[in-house]
Amino acid sequence: MSDRLRPATRVVHAGLPPARQGEPYLPGPVFAAPFHLAGPSDASPYGYGRYANPTWTAYEAALSELEGGETVVFASGAAACAAVLLPALGDGDVLVLPSDGYPVVRKLATEHLAPRGVEIRWVPTDEQAVRAALPGATLVWVETPSNPGLDVLDVAALAQAVHAAGAGLAVDNTLATPLNQRPLELGADLSVSSASKHLTGHSDLVLGCVAAADPERAAALRTWRGLTGAIPGPFEVWLAHRSLATLHVRVERQDATARALATVLRARDDVASVRHPGFGSVLCFDLGAQERAQVFLGALRIVAEATSFGGVHSSAERRARWGTDDVSPGFVRFSVGLEDAGDLRADVLRALEAAAG
Ligand SMILES: Cc1ncc(COP(=O)(O)O)c(C=O)c1O
Repeated sequence: MSDRLRPATRVVHAGLPPARQGEPYLPGPVFAAPFHLAGPSDASPYGYGRYANPTWTAYEAALSELEGGETVVFASGAAACAAVLLPALGDGDVLVLPSDGYPVVRKLATEHLAPRGVEIRWVPTDEQAVRAALPGATLVWVETPSNPGLDVLDVAALAQAVHAAGAGLAVDNTLATPLNQRPLELGADLSVSSASKHLTGHSDLVLGCVAAADPERAAALRTWRGLTGAIPGPFEVWLAHRSLATLHVRVERQDATARALATVLRARDDVASVRHPGFGSVLCFDLGAQERAQVFLGALRIVAEATSFGGVHSSAERRARWGTDDVSPGFVRFSVGLEDAGDLRADVLRALEAAAG
């Protein structure tokens, strides 16, 4: 599709076949283990469902267009993270990793990379800290905005510094989405996302993807996916492709409501440390004690207490309940959905009053 089309148009048409008489906009999901394949093994791109599937091909074409690089879909965001980290690093390699990032990535590094001789350099999501860790690095992994601290890095500046140091740069782009940040265009080598969040947006799918600047890297990711079987089901991928058409309206509306809610909360003296980077649907704040945060969460009527973010239904949780993040007991991560902004504000303000005692 033409590069001149704006993002709201691109998400609606991305990955769809040209209009054909009597055909649907988005072809239905293809369910197959083996495909008919006569003669040589490469006579068709589709021979066996663990290696390739036309429903993945269409969704990957859509994501590739939005990301600006060849994209490979995985069974989950965690599978996408593992596909980047596990095959790429071995004895003597140095991985720079956020100490304040998504816990599963930290655990993967501690339990599966460090024992094979990979040196892990833990850094906070802060440009100077990442730069200081660069000498001798093999791969730098950043999360921006970070989860749950919502700190933001300048990917373009960082990509230059990382490449000058001879390392590769992978960006977890889950919180931003390719509508708010396109890491490959900013110079990163890989853009990783949990598609379980905004990309699918209805809190009913678990999926992940990796976009690569270098097609050879994308091919290596596909090989890893086929070997490990970290494959998504065709129906899930079809639903994800269907959800992409509304990505722009969802993100635009959710981001605007989140900005407005952050402004309201910043003006109150009973809510501390309100964090929102100015884009994205997630905001965080501190209600002090665990009990107060829990009363607040229980008093919300249209906001479900749940983990994850990026869905059409607003949700919130006390992040410290998992014991995996360095946050205070009253730290709340709040994901803004598609409800009316006024209704949401009223619900939050009423729950804050209830939590005041
Ligand atoms: C920033 C980030 N990256 C990766 C993941 C892993 O994604 P998934 O839950 O789809 O496996 C998550 C999940 O919460 C996440 O928040």
